[in-house]
Parts: sequence; structure tokens; C-alpha cells
Amino acid sequence: MSLRAPKGTDDILPPHSRVWRRLLSTWESMAEAYGYDLIMVPFFESTEVFNRGVGESTEVVQKQMYTFEDKKGRSLTLRPEGTAGVVRAFIQAGAQGVMKVAYSGAMFRYEQPQAGRRRQFYQVGLEYLGTDAADADAEVIELGYRYLTATGVPDVTVQLNSLGDDECRPTYIEALRAWLEERRGLLCQDSLRTLEMNPMRVLDCKVCAGVVADAPSPIDYLCEACQTHLSEVRSRLDSAGVPYRLAPRLVRGLDYYTRTAFEYVGSALDAAQTAVGGGGRYDGLAELLGGPPVPGVGLALGVDRIALSVPDAVDPALDVFVVNTDRYRAEARALLSTLRATGIRSDGLPDQRSLKAQFKAADRRGAVAVIVVGDEWESGQVVAKRLDDGSQVVIGSEEIVTWLKSL
Ligand code: HAM
Repeated sequence: MSLRAPKGTDDILPPHSRVWRRLLSTWESMAEAYGYDLIMVPFFESTEVFNRGVGESTEVVQKQMYTFEDKKGRSLTLRPEGTAGVVRAFIQAGAQGVMKVAYSGAMFRYEQPQAGRRRQFYQVGLEYLGTDAADADAEVIELGYRYLTATGVPDVTVQLNSLGDDECRPTYIEALRAWLEERRGLLCQDSLRTLEMNPMRVLDCKVCAGVVADAPSPIDYLCEACQTHLSEVRSRLDSAGVPYRLAPRLVRGLDYYTRTAFEYVGSALDAAQTAVGGGGRYDGLAELLGGPPVPGVGLALGVDRIALSVPDAVDPALDVFVVNTDRYRAEARALLSTLRATGIRSDGLPDQRSLKAQFKAADRRGAVAVIVVGDEWESGQVVAKRLDDGSQVVIGSEEIVTWLKSL
């Protein structure tokens, strides 16, 4: 039997990969426009980074990590998410000042695979480190919202919550624990276990969703500083024109969040996979990883889910396909080089075929136009044909670029 990709992983092939290319390049340019530099960190880290960072009580750490020992017996884990590694890197580099960084890449979680829930999946994300200002939270939420609407995800809504901080959260946790204890009999086995470690995790349990629907919300227990922070984030979002809804029981699946937590929900996917992205503030994470206190806020968006939500039709991948009659092969190759040097996306077949075969290839590759290098070349001309309506003109070879740009 021939070999296949592992369960829960995907090959992203053309033409579908064109959607991915557009999603990734839009991400790069938008992140740059908001002032985020590129960061690249390892795809695997010491297991400790995620145990401490993401949190021992989370499903990610308990069930989903790809953990292995290397040849020297060190415990390593394929990154299940990007934030803990980025904060680890910032601390390692000295944790000075402010750092705004964006990344994209594969993440790994041992999940039960289904559409939009993969074992290797792709995130684009960013982290804004070194500030606790509410403006940073609002900027991050705004960028994610603008990206999702720009890429065509339908009906994006932002769900917003505040999870409090060290000051007010302990009181909330105790109130929640007491409330859940009274309903022990209704909770699933997993929730009974997480109730001991971290009662907030129970709010995230799909099985117990009905039971916890009117559990106490952290929003009702916020201290004054957290209340002020939340209202500042809200007023910044209002002035930026970013619509959001308060989601008082949104707790997110990772333990490092303080204050702001948010998710983007789209309509195109199954109920279980409607979160196309999420993020929040994590002012205690750097210390959990053994560093100095460094406040931070960030987000990650799931590219697999976004790709499933947006229309598959994208612009053609090629501006022009150069074809030639037998005699003019060398001239056609030279023309291709010139076009490519001017940044025009151009291609041709690697070996000489009939004109019919070359036109077929142009069609298959989704080119906008075909340039035919044939007998007209002797008088410095080529045949230029649009593939959408079949119209063609004979133009001077030096006019090709202008003609292509006019299409
Ligand atoms: P997360 O909510 O775990 O957050 O993941 C962010 C997004 O990644 C999800 O909303 C979803 O779209 C996508 N995603 C997660 N798991 C899968 C999967 N198994 N298959 C397909 N897509 C998936 C984080 O990862 C945080 N690091 C976000 C963050 C950054 N918080 C602060 N900074």
C-alpha cells in the first residue's frame, strides 16, 4: 500500500493552496501595517514551557501534546500553540522594553480529527509584550477582526470577556467552586477532576455546557482596576468601530489568561469549530516561565478554519503563459526571463509541445493571458490573447508589459 499523510494532517495542494497563499500574505502585510515584526521560534520546546505556560489543568497539556524524549533523554514537545514559546524567547533575549511580533506556522495537538480540527494545524498569530495598556488589547482585537473580514470570513463576531487578575480572581474561583460543588452530581468525570485543579476549566467543558450555563461569571467579581481595564478596552473598540459582544462565561482553553479574553466566531463552520481565532492578555505568563514580570496580550487565528470559511475562488496564480511555435523556443525562453524580471507572474512548458497542448496547459494553470511567440516575432511582434473572453491582438514585444497591466 502506498504511504499516506498521518491521521489529522493535510497536504495543501494547488489550486486550493492559492487560498492559503492569499491568507498568509494578507496576514504578513496587515501585521506589518500595525507595526508587528516577524518572530520565528522553534517548533519544539522543553515540555516545561507548555506545562508551566499553558497550564497543567488544560486539556491541551493533559491530553493533546506530542511529547517525546530526544536521544539524550530530554523531554521535548511539539508546540501546541505559539504564545508560550514567544514569551520564553523574549525572556531569553533579556525581556527589555516592548516587543511587537507576528508569526505563522504549524502547531500540533493530538485531537480527534474532523473538519477544522486537525492534529497539525496552522496558525497566524501575534504578541504585544511589555505593556499592560488597554490600547494594546484593543489594537490586537481590532487587527484580528479586520483580518478576518478582509479575507472574507462571513459574519465574524468578537466575543469578549474579562477573567480578572490575581487581585480579584481568587474570590471568583471560590464562588465558582462552591457553585459547582453544589452541582457535583451533574458534572462529567473530566469536569470533576478539573474542578479540583481549576474550576474555571469546567466552564470550558463541552459536555457540561448545559449545567454551567448560569454559573457565576468572572465579570461580576472584577476588582476596580480590572473593571477600568475592561471599560477602556470596550471604549477603544467602540471608537475603532469593532463590534463585539460580552461573553461572560468565555474562559478559553489555556490557563495563562488574565483580564481580557476574546474569541472570533464565524458562521461557516460546524458548531464545534466556530472559533476561527482567539486570544487575550497574559500578564502572569513570563513569571510562570521563570522570567521577570512582563505583561502581554496577543491572538492566534486558525488558518485551516479560515480557509474552510472563505470562498475557494481566488485570483489566477499566473498573469501570463508564454507559448511558442517550434522555431521560436529560445526567443520564448528569453521573453519569459524578461517578464519574470519585471515581476510579472509568468510561466511556460519546460519542453516543446504542440500549440494546442501549450494552450491547454495555460488554461489548466489559470493564466490570465497567453503570449504567442511565432512568425510575428520577425517583425518584433507577438500575438497576445486574453483567456477569459478569447479576444486577441498583435502587439509589439516591448508593449507586452503595458498590455498585461491593462487587463
Ligand atoms: P487557541 O484558542 O488555542 O489559542 O487557538 C487559536 C485558534 O487556533 C483557534 O481559535 C482555532 O481557530 C485554531 N485551532 C486550535 N486548535 C486547532 C486544531 N486542532 N485544528 C485546527 N485549528 C485549531 C492559542 O493558541 C493562543 N496561543 C492564542 C493567543 C495568542 N493568546 C494570546 N496570544
